[in-house]
Amino acid sequence: MENSFVLVFVIGLFYLSNFPMSSIAADTITPNGSITHPETIISAGGRFELGFFSLKNDTNYYLGIWYKAVSPQTVVWVANRDYPILSSSASLSFGSDGNIMIYCGKMRYIVTNISSSNTANVMNFSSYNTAIVTNISSSNTASVTLLDSGNLILINQKSQVLWQSFDYPTDTLLPGMNLGYDPLTGVSWSLVSWNSSQDPAPGVFSLVLDPSLELNIKHGSKIYWTGDTGHFLVFYSANMLRKKSTYVTWADDLGDSTISRIVMDVSGQLRLQSWTEGVQGWNTLNAPTCGRSGCGAFSICNLNAQIPCGCLKGFKSESNDSWAQEPGDIWAVDARRCVRKTVLGCNSSSLSKKDRFQHIKYAGLPINPLKLNVRSSMECESASLSNCSWIAYSFDEDTGSCSVWDNDLLDLKQLSEGGKNFYFKLSVSEFDSLGKVNATYH
Ligand SMILES: *[C@@H]1O[C@H](CO)[C@@H](O)[C@H](O)[C@H]1NC(C)=O
Ligand SMILES: *[C@@H]1O[C@H](CO)[C@@H](O)[C@H](O)[C@H]1NC(C)=O
Ligand SMILES: *[C@@H]1O[C@H](CO)[C@@H](O)[C@H](O)[C@H]1NC(C)=O
Ligand SMILES: *[C@@H]1O[C@H](CO)[C@@H](O)[C@H](O)[C@H]1NC(C)=O
Ligand SMILES: *[C@@H]1O[C@H](CO)[C@@H](O)[C@H](O)[C@H]1NC(C)=O
Ligand SMILES: *[C@@H]1O[C@H](CO)[C@@H](O)[C@H](O)[C@H]1NC(C)=O
Ligand SMILES: *[C@@H]1O[C@H](CO)[C@@H](O)[C@H](O)[C@H]1NC(C)=O
Ligand SMILES: *[C@@H]1O[C@H](CO)[C@@H](O)[C@H](O)[C@H]1NC(C)=O
Ligand SMILES: *[C@@H]1O[C@H](CO)[C@@H](O)[C@H](O)[C@H]1NC(C)=O
Ligand SMILES: *[C@@H]1O[C@H](CO)[C@@H](O)[C@H](O)[C@H]1NC(C)=O
Repeated sequence: MENSFVLVFVIGLFYLSNFPMSSIAADTITPNGSITHPETIISAGGRFELGFFSLKNDTNYYLGIWYKAVSPQTVVWVANRDYPILSSSASLSFGSDGNIMIYCGKMRYIVTNISSSNTANVMNFSSYNTAIVTNISSSNTASVTLLDSGNLILINQKSQVLWQSFDYPTDTLLPGMNLGYDPLTGVSWSLVSWNSSQDPAPGVFSLVLDPSLELNIKHGSKIYWTGDTGHFLVFYSANMLRKKSTYVTWADDLGDSTISRIVMDVSGQLRLQSWTEGVQGWNTLNAPTCGRSGCGAFSICNLNAQIPCGCLKGFKSESNDSWAQEPGDIWAVDARRCVRKTVLGCNSSSLSKKDRFQHIKYAGLPINPLKLNVRSSMECESASLSNCSWIAYSFDEDTGSCSVWDNDLLDLKQLSEGGKNFYFKLSVSEFDSLGKVNATYH
């Protein structure tokens, strides 16, 4: 450890004395090279930059990749999100075993672990007592290069890729990256949000591809949104997410000049964004679609609305936190549930309180209905009123079947045509003298 540290220090001095800092704009670090903060390397076409960064007033430093042309700095990959470097005097170079290392004081962080591509990509060296001997002779590695795709690759002298940052996504999917699992290499890819906009540590939201190639957004271990990969196709050509048998690849069909990314953001929103040079801003491409579980319990998803998710009339958002929707969110996914503003009359202690049904035309019905054996819409309504647990009903005139719901209403959709008539119970006090419910749909 001590020896290798000294060695790197000497090489670093030599390097610096030969290459003035301002001239460093290469896309590659060779085994005898290094970069020391604030030096960076820039991909050949000038699209991406790799170096150390810190966030606002923070003393934590991270090795990351960001867009060269985008300001404010937009980071697409972080090497050491779990292990911030606590000083700005960090450098990046090859270790004697051929792996890329971050050196900072007496700390050594291993960015790549080419003896085992399955393990986490960064370790805090001081958690080891002795140096890791992987015996990958340095002649095995040739260089590390930042490509114009945003991929950082470690290659050997035969130009074989030994390690690539695209295999260790953080919160951002760039064109050319995968989601899912490759049984041939054992590599799996998913996105995990930052902990906050100022903290790249892993947050609570993740995007994973399940074995049936459905996209799942998770909050911790709980899935709260499921949707088909086809949702990405709304604005782009059909091959945008190319399905393999166990994973999908985001193909770059956007043209070379387009800067775009899919990001699992800190509030649980999945955003497909492109950079608009003219306005110097991120344009979130809005692809309003309802997930398999809609927008959460007692919500309604309106495919044609600017903001697809909203609470049903007479309901409000349970919480008031940072998960609020913003226009332009890719699915305006909302992990919250909506809750009743006024308890149902049949559930209240006051026997005089009554309930009424609120009608929704052109409804895509919620999941998990109970079928009742009644023959008319009126019978269906009175059956529903007869049981306090049955909070909604729908009578299908075509099939003559009566459905009631006794649970959370999930995946209710507002369609613009077709669908069914859907009726849900509200306390009569939610209705005004004209029989209208105080509007709450936003
Ligand atoms: C660094 O290594 C490269 C090839 O590995 C070689 O061409 C170059 O001369 C070396 N530079 C120095 C300063 O040793
Ligand atoms: C950074 O620190 C300065 C002085 O302590 C403070 O005025 C400023 O608001 C801080 N900025 C952020 C983004 O926290
Ligand atoms: C590295 O690990 C040691 C022991 O676990 C800990 O004391 C130290 O704070 C860590 N350093 C960083 C930079 O994470
Ligand atoms: C690198 O891989 C080897 C072999 O799988 C493993 O024993 C070692 O802990 C890994 N080192 C790091 C820093 O991940
Ligand atoms: C490292 O591996 C090479 C062959 O790959 C072998 O010849 C050499 O003895 C090994 N060195 C050690 C210290 O194990
Ligand atoms: C994430 O942020 C919360 C509060 O902002 C903090 O308590 C928690 O420790 C952070 N998690 C990590 C992994 O840094
Ligand atoms: C919701 O947030 C607003 C603004 O932060 C706050 O004033 C209000 O008290 C919050 N309401 C609830 C119910 O937490
Ligand atoms: C009515 O109250 C019972 C028990 O208090 C509860 O289990 C049930 O879910 C409530 N029903 C409705 C529609 O709120
Ligand atoms: C009322 O609804 C509950 C929940 O669906 C059901 O278990 C119960 O049997 C119903 N009661 C009557 C009398 O139908
Ligand atoms: C509905 O709105 C009317 C008039 O704005 C108000 O008097 C009434 O209390 C509201 N009802 C509920 C349940 O919010």
